[in-house]
Amino acid sequence: MHPACGNKKVIENSLNDLNTRFVASPDEIRAHLAQAVGQANVEATMARVSGHLVAATKGVQTEQSLDDHEYVSRIDSVGRFQSILATVFQDVPGLQGYGDKNPIWLTTLVESAAHNVKSFFDRTRHDVVGGQPLWAALISELAKLPADGYLAPFPPGTPPTIQMPDDVKIALLADWGGDNPAARRVADVVRKQSPQIAIHLGDVYYGGTESECNTFLNLWPMPKPWKGSSYALNGNHEMYCGGQYYFQVILGAFQQPQSFFCLENKYWRLIGLDSAYNKGTLKPRSADDPVTAQWNWLIDLLKIKDAKANILLTHHQPVSAHRPEWLASEVLRAEVNEILNMEGVGKDSIFGWFFGHEHRCAVYDDAATSFNARLIGNGCIPHLVQTEKDSDEGCTPFKYCNRKPIAGDPNAAVSSFAKLHFEGYEVQIDYLDEDFCTLGAETWSQKTGRSDPRFPFQEYDAQQGESERSPAGV
Ligand SMILES: [Fe+2]
Repeated sequence: MHPACGNKKVIENSLNDLNTRFVASPDEIRAHLAQAVGQANVEATMARVSGHLVAATKGVQTEQSLDDHEYVSRIDSVGRFQSILATVFQDVPGLQGYGDKNPIWLTTLVESAAHNVKSFFDRTRHDVVGGQPLWAALISELAKLPADGYLAPFPPGTPPTIQMPDDVKIALLADWGGDNPAARRVADVVRKQSPQIAIHLGDVYYGGTESECNTFLNLWPMPKPWKGSSYALNGNHEMYCGGQYYFQVILGAFQQPQSFFCLENKYWRLIGLDSAYNKGTLKPRSADDPVTAQWNWLIDLLKIKDAKANILLTHHQPVSAHRPEWLASEVLRAEVNEILNMEGVGKDSIFGWFFGHEHRCAVYDDAATSFNARLIGNGCIPHLVQTEKDSDEGCTPFKYCNRKPIAGDPNAAVSSFAKLHFEGYEVQIDYLDEDFCTLGAETWSQKTGRSDPRFPFQEYDAQQGESERSPAGV
């Protein structure tokens, strides 16, 4: 990520400048693209890049606020444009060296006026492409992206269930793939916990490009080898490039054959699902839909009658306290209800469910849901401090949300992850933030069930020291 790319005005003005160049100087762009993709492909590439710019412009102008402190679009064309803008800005030495909060001067320049943007984009990207103007570098990067609507093949087959120890620490990071100071601080805290397994619940920003997926791996907090210790779920941002770099780069590095998996021990079963390939849903849309394998595999797992309790992991939220996200998850909610009402599947067969996508943290009211629902999407994206007292009307009530600001900015909320320490039939869950503080903790017991009142979620505000703090009552 690049700090300037989180400013919506920067995105808008950058798009406007490039759109203007397509109209005013098509021959100049044609000549540039001829060098980049060859004469035979110029017209098709021009049309594709121009279409992308127009779609992104429309998207950025119409997208509603997501309560993010920095702008991270959920529109594929805008996300892809943010990716290439960040890539080009990161390659310009003159735009570096101002620290993590940098560069205010760049934001001001690109934000201020169209003629400033034009002169800025006429400057050169010295290091990589030898004097190429910034506008040309941006066009080149756009031309490299997969075509709009490209969908990488869904990996075939179903994964074997992987055994894990009965005593095991697992770090769950969601919406963490942002390559920003918060992501690096969260990674440091993860390393201090020395988990045996870490799982990313999806979203590599901005558009899941090849370079962003490689950066994700460079920052991943687990030591190599990654096979068996590291897993990654698919997110909507990975799908902005059709999912191909998530499948090839990240799953390849983790030696994870599918975008869904199951880990189990004597007492628990962790089921990771790809909710992003079909845009926040799980159920196949047709007989030949490739996600059919995952759907049937999930149903078979939930039909198993044994002493294990099932915890689901997805990128997308099945519930929400906020009306837009609650409405967006209606289909997923209906699909889960359909599964829970199937013959052979118990209505209580899902004990808990961790998910991201919303850049917030919430512990939902277990009495209001058919599983313990936990939102941990505050993995690294600076988002507004949560001030809500109650859920929106008709939406999912919550017991806790993240009201802690980062140091130095009362409006930006702290990022965190969840550490799950499985110890036999219990799992202690700590919500640890980027400052190495514990936001809260709870213990689930699959022996006594979801309604066990002994270890409810408790909010903490203590610095975590060398020895682990335990929830009250333990
Ligand atoms: Fe997401």
